[in-house]
Amino acid sequence: MSTVAYVNGSYRPLRAAAVNIEDRGYQFGDGIYEVIYVLHGRLVDSDLHLARLARSLQEVEISQPLTPAALMIVIEQVLRRNRVTTGLVYIQVTRGVARRDHTFPSSPTRPSIVITARHRPAPPRDVASWAGTAICLPDERWGRCDIKSTNLLPNVLARQKARLSGAYEAILYDAQDNVTEGAASTVWMVDAEGILTTRHLDRHILPGCTRATLIKELQDQQIRFKEAPFTLAALRAAREIFLTSATSFIKPITRLDGAPVADGKSGPVTKVLFDQYQRYIEVP
Ligand code: PDD
Repeated sequence: MSTVAYVNGSYRPLRAAAVNIEDRGYQFGDGIYEVIYVLHGRLVDSDLHLARLARSLQEVEISQPLTPAALMIVIEQVLRRNRVTTGLVYIQVTRGVARRDHTFPSSPTRPSIVITARHRPAPPRDVASWAGTAICLPDERWGRCDIKSTNLLPNVLARQKARLSGAYEAILYDAQDNVTEGAASTVWMVDAEGILTTRHLDRHILPGCTRATLIKELQDQQIRFKEAPFTLAALRAAREIFLTSATSFIKPITRLDGAPVADGKSGPVTKVLFDQYQRYIEVP
């Protein structure tokens, strides 16, 4: 748990850190966020996360509260003040405080910014011990999932259903039965021909930073890969499934809706990529 939070220009003990009840993030989920992993004091893919933050803010017309350089200084301070060298940084920017009205405030508000940090261990060395399970659920989110909005109610409900059924993640599928992504992760599979597939980017999924890095890292591997839609039926027939995100790294999924994925063990492609990603985050 974070003990010091940065809130709108000052560092406060978490107990005393608060935002106004008329903050539009609180009232409407009118805000943007990022989660960045930090390993041994080094932020993983901070350039990608900060670029995505800037893009999400631009898409919803919230101005940037800090320049990228100033933001990095504050992030380093929050990490230092919380003595976090391995863990997570959470950044949230909202449209700010205004009397409740759905339309944007008529006079521009100052965006609110909150940054926290907390300890989280590094992923284990052994891929098999990192495996998890998933359930499949209809994707009930909005049409701009490429924006990393704090408005996460459908994701929250999906993850809660996963939790109640003993699974780690909810894998979402659209009205055409195409897999979109996890409630908080990117979905990958290895099909019957051995081709690694993840869904193409569009407005229905978040452009994952871990996804982008892994695609770059794949160039060193002899793994056939494509970015393309795939159905729930294809996912159920997959040889291997794994998830990626700043918090799950590369996470093998060995059971889907209670049934084993292939032989129910983490597969060889997942292991190669898991090992490669470990090396990448140790020395990017
Ligand atoms: N979630 N898709 C969704 C819907 C996500 O919420 C996330 C990340 C990802 C993976 O993105 P990245 O590789 O950049 O972390 C994909 C974060 C970790 C969260 O909400 O806590």
